[in-house]
Amino acid sequence: MSSIVWRIEHFNVIDSTNTWVAKRALEGAPEGLVAFADFQSAGRGRLDRQWESPPGASLLCSILLRPDLAPDQLQLVVACVALAARAALVRLSGVRPALKWPNDLIVGDAKIAGLLAEIVSVDERLAVVVGIGVNLTHEGPANVVSTSVRAESGVTITPPALLDILLDELEARRASLDSADGQASLRDEYRRSLVTLGQMVRVERTNDAIVGLAKSVDEFGQLIVLVDEDEVSVTVGDVVHLRAHEAEPS
Ligand code: BTN
Repeated sequence: MSSIVWRIEHFNVIDSTNTWVAKRALEGAPEGLVAFADFQSAGRGRLDRQWESPPGASLLCSILLRPDLAPDQLQLVVACVALAARAALVRLSGVRPALKWPNDLIVGDAKIAGLLAEIVSVDERLAVVVGIGVNLTHEGPANVVSTSVRAESGVTITPPALLDILLDELEARRASLDSADGQASLRDEYRRSLVTLGQMVRVERTNDAIVGLAKSVDEFGQLIVLVDEDEVSVTVGDVVHLRAHEAEPS
């Protein structure tokens, strides 16, 4: 595939960059459309949560990708962007976040970035909006253990500077989505960066929670958790990494 032509739209204030890019995607906007904002009045997180950040304190952006993939491969697209964001943070600040299943970037136990991917259409190709919020100088909401690039490194990165390098890193990985070999190496890089694997976890699902060993991620991006003797596949949920004493039966 030839290199992507990025078309970047900047907003001082918007409701949600994901919502804006999703609308443009439905109108037929090509891959490479990017929205970024200083402030979102209705920023959205996973599981219908709000995503709030003071003006200019985070990178708030959404990227339209149209890979030739089945909808059940959405997690691969998200992994591609998450790995690009991680590489960009390493380049600009030296902070090397790990990935936490499904879509968080964390430093230690603290969240530094989150991604929200939404499938807009599956007509000819998958149209996916991948939104990302990276805490640059603001340490995230009080109810989430979170941190920022500045808190971790002392480096102040501006949102446009991070976006520029993130898109550079994404361009370097985008072609991987188009071939079986590329997909395999993306999956490998994702699994290697995923600190969740091998840990005892509590997974909070919509109606219940399970505790077990996070064993692997399958080809659809589902987390496989060993609960007693059973392998449970988790598609949607919040993962808490447990410390040894938290994982013992009470
Ligand atoms: C999460 O961790 O819950 C995902 C958060 C994703 C937030 C970003 S900020 C830019 C983009 N626009 C949104 O409304 N959400 C995403």
